[in-house]
Amino acid sequence: MKNILSILLLLLFVSYPTVTGSGKNGKDEIDKKVRKLLSKMTIEEKVGQMTQVTLQAVSKIKGTKDQHHELDLEKLEKAIVKYKVGSILNVYDVSHEIEYWHEVISKIQDLATNKTRLKIPVLYGIDAIHGATYTKGSTLFPQALAMASTFNRKLVKVSGEITSREIKASGIPWNFYPVLDIGRHPAWPRLWETFGEDVYLVSELGKAYIEGAQGSDFSMPDKAAICLKHFAGYSLPHTGKDRTPALIGERMMREYFLKPFKTGIDAGAETIMINSSEVDGIPGHANYHLLTEILRNEWNFKGFTVSDWEDIKRLYTRDNVADSPEEAVRMAVMAGVDMSMVPYDFSFYEILLKLVKEGKVPLRRIDEAVGRILRVKFMTGLFDNPYPLKNLVTSFAADEHTIKNLDAARESIILVKNENNLLPLSKNLKVFVTGPTADKLMVLNGGWTITWQGNEESLYPEEKLTILEAVESKIGKSNVTFLPGTDFSKAINIQDAADAARKCDVILLCLGEAPYCETPGNVNDLTLDKAQIELADEMINTGKPVILLLIEGRPRIINSIESRINSILISFLPGMEGGKAIADILFGDANPSGKLPVTYPKYINDFTLYDHKHIEAKEGNSYNPQWEFGHGLSYTTFQYSNLTLSKDIINRNENLSVSINVHNTGNVKGSEAVLLYLSDLYRVVSPPVKQLKGFEKIELEPGQSKTIEFILTPEHLSFIGIDYKSKIEPGKFIVSIGNLKKEFTLK
Ligand code: BGC
Repeated sequence: MKNILSILLLLLFVSYPTVTGSGKNGKDEIDKKVRKLLSKMTIEEKVGQMTQVTLQAVSKIKGTKDQHHELDLEKLEKAIVKYKVGSILNVYDVSHEIEYWHEVISKIQDLATNKTRLKIPVLYGIDAIHGATYTKGSTLFPQALAMASTFNRKLVKVSGEITSREIKASGIPWNFYPVLDIGRHPAWPRLWETFGEDVYLVSELGKAYIEGAQGSDFSMPDKAAICLKHFAGYSLPHTGKDRTPALIGERMMREYFLKPFKTGIDAGAETIMINSSEVDGIPGHANYHLLTEILRNEWNFKGFTVSDWEDIKRLYTRDNVADSPEEAVRMAVMAGVDMSMVPYDFSFYEILLKLVKEGKVPLRRIDEAVGRILRVKFMTGLFDNPYPLKNLVTSFAADEHTIKNLDAARESIILVKNENNLLPLSKNLKVFVTGPTADKLMVLNGGWTITWQGNEESLYPEEKLTILEAVESKIGKSNVTFLPGTDFSKAINIQDAADAARKCDVILLCLGEAPYCETPGNVNDLTLDKAQIELADEMINTGKPVILLLIEGRPRIINSIESRINSILISFLPGMEGGKAIADILFGDANPSGKLPVTYPKYINDFTLYDHKHIEAKEGNSYNPQWEFGHGLSYTTFQYSNLTLSKDIINRNENLSVSINVHNTGNVKGSEAVLLYLSDLYRVVSPPVKQLKGFEKIELEPGQSKTIEFILTPEHLSFIGIDYKSKIEPGKFIVSIGNLKKEFTLK
């Protein structure tokens, strides 16, 4: 009943336009309102709007797992009334009940709308990375890399819809997500926050997420404003460590790293967070070229940019490009930063005010930044109602959300190896379960779950199932034996585990990573920890069939054990329903359909990606990963046939239609992600061997076949030329899908 009610409520919301016509449809209206409001504002009020502080800055105690967070009303009043701050963010460091969020947001908006001269509401922002991270009991989806493994736009869109609904139910209208960085360094500890290594996949899934999260009007009750991050070039740190320099040339920047952001803006993004690190010696927050020349002058982006955590200060304290805190603020604002995530104090406000008064930052630039911020505030509908919509609570963590979450988790799991069809398992076997990822929910979820690092197991919901619990519930406790064997990096009882394993029919070896987020997740060696390899060796030595389950945020190297293991499943953090989904796959209640959204490296010094250049795989070099990007097996078999192009020769402005027939030749129903690659054979800027330009996920009954059509547009054929502009060069191209290939010529 609760669910029917919540669906009805949502339908009501979805079918009514907002009273004021704010949002996309009323853009001119909004511009007028912004100009009017701006004309009434003092410099202090303007600089306040550009200031964002963390909830901790206005709290009595930080709020930890043992101490409930408490607002400090005096500090809050100081922030909102004295410093006129425009935005507050996040929490430290634990999720709150939905009712508590309502209280916090209401107190903030009470002050903003009753005690300030112009009654400008505060824009509250939060990191709702894979769901409403910081609201207790929320629907927490697979992390982005796992969502990308589904190659399913619909699921990604739904995850955006549900996340917006649940943060809005918590009273929060702004989400610092999606991450549109491309995961091109496998060691980077934020790899799992990305949609993988491919520019097209990241762009397409980013677009799907935004469509779900914002709809066509994010002032709607169940929609929220998203924030693209981290602009741009953050994800290819030379060392693989977080917040270390990237060395990206202008062409590569445009060909890879900027494209998803442009797609995100075209899909309706109105806010962008800036790269916390540096590219080619220029910190993201001082990069005029990216923040103004490209974002504004070339792309005409109308929304606002927000700094990352403390990053304006860091231009002075960490990057040494500014020789004082004042210079850091001047540099960042003049480069194009509109809002500063300060986040603990009001130094940005004080400094910027002084700089404006001294004429070191022109008022024109302040008006520009504040205008952009107010515009987004109008677009969110905050001026009409800044308070939480209590009736959304009924749909919070609704059963339908859990069902979608389970669908996503199942589709995100990748079967990379299945010798002699060991999987799926029959339900009458004695299973031995071992390893550090077997019996914890936190390993399924990773960072940004309940806390920043996601590693407080005691705070996880009791009703959700770990892998072990899900396997037990599937085949009965009496058929399952568990010993951990080892922690992530320290052996516990490996020999006992081996003895117990010998008494069972099959071993479920659960290895991988502990949760982490950002810099704490840096590693010096991508090889899986020694203790875990040792446990694997001992399990293999029992002679029993071994199924390896890798639960990890990035591909940890396993070349020393891989060839001796019978079946391997990989999950890049499947979320709160992950345990259930894995058990469904293990016992054949679901058929795996995930594919790798990254290249899985075999060797520690070989990070060659799938869309490498020819030179990387010729004359002694080779692409020799453990598994290729796009690899993933099923319990059924698919046969591809009839790859057909609408033409052999096309003109420059013409589209090409590509069709392919896919047939389920096995005995069970299955889903298949059909991937289309394009190779430009010769061009002035060395071409990659191939690049993904289309993907479709289909479901087929045994014996069923379907024909899929892809449309290749001139854009798919283009590349960034020597002059840094998009180019199309005549010549030959090859389309490949599965093992089939067809050539065509562009005149
Ligand atoms: C992260 C961002 C995040 C911000 C606010 C930073 O440390 O880099 O991704 O949105 O904190 O929590």
